[in-house]
Amino acid sequence: TASRVAAAPEDPLFGLAKAYREDPSDKKIDLGIGAYRDNNAKPWILPVVKKADDAIHNDPNLNHEYLAIGGLPDLTAAAQKLVVGAESPAIREKRICTLQTISGTGAVHLGGLFLSKFHPLKPTIYLSDPTWANHNQIFTNVGLNIAKYPYFSAKTKGLDFDGMVQALQAAPTGSVVVLHACAHNPTGVDPTQEQWRAIAAVMRERNQFPFFDTAYQGFASGDLNRDAWAIRYFVEQGFEMCVAQSFAKNFGLYGERTGAFHFVSAPGSDASEANAHIASQLAILQRSEISNPPAYGARIASRILNDPVLFAQWEEDLRTMSGRIQEMRRGLRERLEARGTPGTWDHITSQIGMFSFTGLNEAQVQTLRSKWHVYMTKNGRISMAGLNTNNIDYFAEAVDSVVRQ
Ligand code: LMR
Repeated sequence: TASRVAAAPEDPLFGLAKAYREDPSDKKIDLGIGAYRDNNAKPWILPVVKKADDAIHNDPNLNHEYLAIGGLPDLTAAAQKLVVGAESPAIREKRICTLQTISGTGAVHLGGLFLSKFHPLKPTIYLSDPTWANHNQIFTNVGLNIAKYPYFSAKTKGLDFDGMVQALQAAPTGSVVVLHACAHNPTGVDPTQEQWRAIAAVMRERNQFPFFDTAYQGFASGDLNRDAWAIRYFVEQGFEMCVAQSFAKNFGLYGERTGAFHFVSAPGSDASEANAHIASQLAILQRSEISNPPAYGARIASRILNDPVLFAQWEEDLRTMSGRIQEMRRGLRERLEARGTPGTWDHITSQIGMFSFTGLNEAQVQTLRSKWHVYMTKNGRISMAGLNTNNIDYFAEAVDSVVRQ
């Protein structure tokens, strides 16, 4: 039977990373995978992470035992506060449960699996068009149907707000809607607070179920609370909802696979009991799949989140990352405008977070790769963190050249 299995295509992002590594050119630029790089194009260990890591190595009380099925309690409690706010009614009323997961991917999966097993309606999962490519396969793999809602306007290179709202109005009641909490991947385009309010109003009216994915808290604006605004607003509005939270980008803990899944129950007299039942079912799903989550990254994140001095230093490190990215946005826009590169480039600075959706088409992306050794996904997304003061002129020259072709 093994011979009947057709070959699968290579993962686009990891395939791109491999092609970049194998390119011998010294001019090459990696704008593919969303991982922060410093001004020398090197991975950056956050100074606060280094500090927490050193403390862990020197802690005689630590061992290599299993964590609980739900993960490290100090981490999950802190992760809740980080995402919904320490004063959230969901925490006070004990109607939020949290399990530590294999980063954001594991959290999206656990939520998807839970919905596929326990949601009475077998709902369709609505994904933004475009979205992080992995969303499609994670939800499909657990047997859920997926559909798209318009999100990006190719014309304005901003949010297609009307298209999105109309699609939600037309989507069946009870549908699950995946929303990127901030720094939308791949477009870098977020709704304004006013637009979020309107989205929530439609979803409330249609009795739809929000499933937030938050992988860039602190990375979008540099302010952790601001970046959690949409999630907190939906909690305030009394939605029952899921939140998948990744600590890969904001702690620079990519390989440690640290994250959390939260289920928030709607307010009500039996909310706390209902939420406890959900937590117990999630624990069984988790046990059958990963038994219990990995300890190392969780210990690092937990130390930082629970220590006010380290927390303040973390906020500083987040500002370092988001600040450098913003500088690169300004630098790229300035250079393209100075060259008179055909088209408009203001979207480079109005989009936020790790990515910019440049508007370059597939043929242009191909030429950038074959002729200029610049690597980005074929939808024209660039990871802004791959740009730095050493390569930004070359990149602007390359973009200018392919746009004029
Ligand atoms: C990305 O979109 O580049 C990141 O989220 C990395 C990944 O896992 O796909």
